[in-house]
Amino acid sequence: MNLANEPVVAPPRIDVVGLFPELVLQSAAVGVVGRALRRGLLQVEGWQLRDFAEEPHRSVDDRPYGGGPGMVMLVDPLRRCLQAVREADPRPPRVLLMSPQGAPLTQARIRGWARLPRLVLVCGRYEGVDERFVAHCVDEQVSLGDYVLSGGELAAAVIVDALGRVLDGALGDPRSAVQDSFEDGLLDCPHYTRPECHELGVVPEVLRSGDHAAIARWRRQQALGRTWRWRPDLLQRRVLSDEDRRLLEEYRKRHAAAEPPGTD
Ligand code: ADE
Repeated sequence: MNLANEPVVAPPRIDVVGLFPELVLQSAAVGVVGRALRRGLLQVEGWQLRDFAEEPHRSVDDRPYGGGPGMVMLVDPLRRCLQAVREADPRPPRVLLMSPQGAPLTQARIRGWARLPRLVLVCGRYEGVDERFVAHCVDEQVSLGDYVLSGGELAAAVIVDALGRVLDGALGDPRSAVQDSFEDGLLDCPHYTRPECHELGVVPEVLRSGDHAAIARWRRQQALGRTWRWRPDLLQRRVLSDEDRRLLEEYRKRHAAAEPPGTD
């Protein structure tokens, strides 16, 4: 309870498990997310996996059954570490494994996790993690994209950053997060600031008109048009309203003659 006799609610908590958890903590310490941490909107803790390995060698990996190159991360250090992580806070966590085998990271997944009280981000290294740990201890796998990193820490840093900035109170103006790219399944519209006239171009007139409805329409049209040009896959997955279709058609007519999609 606090002075107003309200129950004190613990902030969302993210525990990072791996061989280089300090990488994630360092990136979380700066900018918007650093400020969220200092304001107590979020708690992030790092766990050194080697602390849960067995003496004398404190190994966290071994050779793969079936042969082949590389090493595989052992089940037991991971399991012991995860147990200690669970015991550090009474709230049951959702356990995510960073892995190229995971489902791609999206803003929608970030939004979903931001509503949870607790996450554990497990960062693999080497060829991968023993599948028995994945099958029994992991709730979801997450991939940053179709390429291979040397470890999951950078993926975990990306999740902490993307999640930290959407928490209530993290951004100076909460409208910033709502108008982000992908929040509506579309790319963001272009932005301009001073000066109005520059040797590289002039700010579009509509943005200087003070006509809020026209500005909103222009921004929507730009968001639809840029998505059509650069990320047509995002449009294929959604049904557009009549107004959106009309705006996009107008944009396409204006741009199609000038250049084919995906060229800038
Ligand atoms: N670990 C290695 N590659 C990865 C990727 N693409 N995404 C998430 N974790 C990874």
